[in-house]
Amino acid sequence: MDKTVKFEHLPKGTVGRSLCVFLAATASIIIASVLKFVFIVKTDEAIGVLPYVLFAIVILIIYLGHYLYVVCSRHSLVKNLRAFGAINLAMAMTVILNIYLEGINSFLMPAMLASFIVVSLVDGRDAFSANIFVNILIMFILLTQMRLANNLNYYAVVSKFAQGLTGGTVVAYWLSGETKRINFVLKGLLIALMSVLAVFAVVSAFGEKILTLKEIGFLAGGTFGQVIVAVALQPVFESMFNLVTNTRLVEFTDHNAPLIKRLKEEAPGTFIHSLAVANFAEVCASAIGENPYLARACAYYHDVGKLVNPLHFKENQPDDNPRDGLLPEVSAEIIRGHTTEGKRLCDEYRIPHEISDITVQHHGTLPIYVFLNKAKQLTDGEVDIEEYSYHGHTPVTKIAAIIMLCDSSEAAIRAMDNPDAERVDKLLRKLISDRINARQFDDCDITLRDLDIIRMTIISAYGGQFHKRLKYPDGSSGK
Ligand SMILES: [Fe+2]
Ligand SMILES: [Fe+2]
Repeated sequence: MDKTVKFEHLPKGTVGRSLCVFLAATASIIIASVLKFVFIVKTDEAIGVLPYVLFAIVILIIYLGHYLYVVCSRHSLVKNLRAFGAINLAMAMTVILNIYLEGINSFLMPAMLASFIVVSLVDGRDAFSANIFVNILIMFILLTQMRLANNLNYYAVVSKFAQGLTGGTVVAYWLSGETKRINFVLKGLLIALMSVLAVFAVVSAFGEKILTLKEIGFLAGGTFGQVIVAVALQPVFESMFNLVTNTRLVEFTDHNAPLIKRLKEEAPGTFIHSLAVANFAEVCASAIGENPYLARACAYYHDVGKLVNPLHFKENQPDDNPRDGLLPEVSAEIIRGHTTEGKRLCDEYRIPHEISDITVQHHGTLPIYVFLNKAKQLTDGEVDIEEYSYHGHTPVTKIAAIIMLCDSSEAAIRAMDNPDAERVDKLLRKLISDRINARQFDDCDITLRDLDIIRMTIISAYGGQFHKRLKYPDGSSGK
């Protein structure tokens, strides 16, 4: 199964991730406690108020502590909060829905709803954790509710807990990485059906009662309903929190997505180049265990900044180069502008940062050799290399490093006269070592082994389908 997009700025490792989900669960407890407080006050059962208030205060302190920890230790708080907020909302909705639907009929409760929503938005491991905490919460709240009403029914609560826990776990792992909505629905309905049959069997065997038709209807409605609710809510959550799900990544790479359509129409050469980079990047990402959907989307958008001055880039020039006659430093300024303009355009079109950050990272801080060399010729070698370098950021993720390598490889292979596997291999080794020496991978955790795999993957993906591209004296493609 493909890996889905990970939290990049939350604490790493199982403990860190579990801590985050646990703390996200506390938001649900607060909401449920407040609701319960209101409910109890309404019904004049003041005796039960104090424990809930104390509980809510303790949870609030833990939650604020976590919030402070994130603020103090992570700079990109806003990035955290999108996925963090989505998990919170999914869990809170599930808890609230379960508590209130339980009041109508105990068989109506959608105990796996959080698992369905989170797996469709983040990934299976987060859905697994969210599901556990939500079901513990629901069990805790139901038991307290029953105790207050002097109507304890451990059997009903525990069977519901078991159903939510096992069903939600199956959802978390079976649906993780599922990009086709129809498969999501079919698998979800199958899990729901198994869940209905399991509850029916358990209640019939140990519950000393036969379910009425009405109860069976509630059970089926509640269980199947949560699949439909999760699918219906997915685009709402994605848009509300600007999340990068695999489903949304596929939509971003639609040739009719607004920015891609513009690229196709206004900079057709760049569009073709981006498709070629995407084909390399996708297989490279799979080869080193990164998300291929994200790699493809990043490749599609990496050069959108060229839309500002499409004719200044070789791949879009039918005949004349409008940069002919310009000073090398002016040309360098125009060329490197496509990175920051790309970021600006992506922000304008509300492209998530996981994709748009690539625009300013895919050239890192490398020199633009063609203009650097020209300037050296004009000034007898006395030039400030900074003036002829990209002013972006070096790659901070493995995906960004993949795009940097696939982008330069695609362009350089095009520029080769008679590319064969041996020559391409030699070229790629040079490209990689040049970038290592220029410290372009210092800010990301890509390993030498990953770089080796990427090199071999590009060679095997290369099929000789590239058109010729003008070759510059230094071997670069003049991008
Ligand atoms: Fe570029
Ligand atoms: Fe490019």
